[in-house]
Amino acid sequence: MNQPTPTNQLVLVLDFGGQYKELIARAVRGLSVYAEIKSGHITAAEIKALNPIGIILTGGPKSVYLADSPKCEPELWGLGIPILGICYGMQMMCHMLGGEVSTADTGEYGCVTVTPLSAGPPFSALMSHRDRVTRLPEGFCVTSTTESCIASCENREKKLYGVQFHPESEHTNDGREFLGHFLYEICGAVGDYRLDDYVSLQINEIRGTVGKQNILLALSGGVDSSVCASLLSKAVPGQLTCIFVDHGFMRQNEADEIEAVFSKRNLRLIRVNAQKRFLGKLKGVTEPEAKRKIIGEEFIRVFEEEAKKLGKIPFFAQGTIYPDIVESGGGIHGATIKSHHNVGGLPEKLDFEKIVEPLSGLFKDEVRVLGRKLGLPSKLVNRQPFPGPGLAIRVMGEITERKLEVLRKADAIMREELDRMRTKPSQYFAVLTDTLSVGVKGDDRTYEPVVALRAVTTTDFMTCEYTQIPHKILSKISARITNEIPLVSRVVYDITSKPPATVEWE
Ligand code: XMP
Repeated sequence: MNQPTPTNQLVLVLDFGGQYKELIARAVRGLSVYAEIKSGHITAAEIKALNPIGIILTGGPKSVYLADSPKCEPELWGLGIPILGICYGMQMMCHMLGGEVSTADTGEYGCVTVTPLSAGPPFSALMSHRDRVTRLPEGFCVTSTTESCIASCENREKKLYGVQFHPESEHTNDGREFLGHFLYEICGAVGDYRLDDYVSLQINEIRGTVGKQNILLALSGGVDSSVCASLLSKAVPGQLTCIFVDHGFMRQNEADEIEAVFSKRNLRLIRVNAQKRFLGKLKGVTEPEAKRKIIGEEFIRVFEEEAKKLGKIPFFAQGTIYPDIVESGGGIHGATIKSHHNVGGLPEKLDFEKIVEPLSGLFKDEVRVLGRKLGLPSKLVNRQPFPGPGLAIRVMGEITERKLEVLRKADAIMREELDRMRTKPSQYFAVLTDTLSVGVKGDDRTYEPVVALRAVTTTDFMTCEYTQIPHKILSKISARITNEIPLVSRVVYDITSKPPATVEWE
């Protein structure tokens, strides 16, 4: 993982299992202060060694008074480093320092009015809790309240601050100002984090590591691997080879577009047309997890075969980004619903001297900004998330070339129409269901799969709401799909949120 440059001030975000840890770190970086997420179990000695200017404790799903709820080391409170506890973080702070936390009969979920006790008018803030602080530890005072709880508290002398609400959420009015006040007025931040500095540091590091040798990258055409390829071709021009495995599950024209963009860059692009091979392996396979597994394994096999033809290449690059590292860091997690397979995983049989991950300190939106700076087309940089196994998990049941063809067309129509919306959903696509339905086209009876449309709005994809697309647009998509694709005669719109559904149908 990338450490901050020696010149960067650092804020630590300690994870206690809350959903918003990345949002917190990203909000801090958005305020020009470098933030890293660490486990809530980090020791006080490790913290001291990192020398942060401030610490933020995240929320978490447990009750602080349960024996197995995560707790920080008690030494933290006496380090003299300013600490802001958010939600569970505030409850843990108060509980560990002698205050009292209890569970109320009803929770506060959603936007709630918070009234400051001294300065400022009431404001609206996002709350998501049932436990609340009912007695403060000695030396603390209440700074704001809601109708039913202490909304914030502080012990200025010890530089300890707690908020029950979520200042990192866009639903909290002036949440950014609140965080900015903590960073700049309390922690003494100077605002020395800039994306450009990060990039020049990475370019120097890549040059130092790779020298005059060659480096290999699995290019998927997704935002991360594309930006990674562009950064590497800038850092070590002519030394990068990209292997782009076309598994045949890309969207309409996508594989050609990727080839067109990267064949203009200062790198060597190898496109492997492996469509038939993947389809062959998936013959008769209907179960989603089995599809993911087969595609993942086959991908690595194809990649290895191609890489071996190139002879020894000492370095292997990956477009790993910061949330990938945070999510796989063994923190305090929930259940695994899907084995999110990212095509482009590390081939085990190839013997590389070193793995290079130049984006591993960046959040997704920072990667997009970097992509724009590197001159990638906006269509690629703003690409909505697309699963590694691609359309294979959007053709329900067994995959055939014909079904893929139908889905590609339906999906292209859906995206073309929604691309025109001013505020676009976070992700939108078509699914070819495995339900056959009777229709009538001309004088003929049809009996073909139903096409489902999916569009969701979310910030983190862990939860999402289905997007309320205007009926006019839905009608147009439906009419176009049934008119332009022979045999498709039924289109439905998915109106479930996550949970209980997931974004993808498989
Ligand atoms: P779900 O369906 O789990 O999707 O609600 C959440 C987000 O993850 C994407 N997704 C995947 N991405 N490999 C990926 O790289 C996968 O196997 C995979 N499955 C789902 C999905 O498109 C959505 O953005």
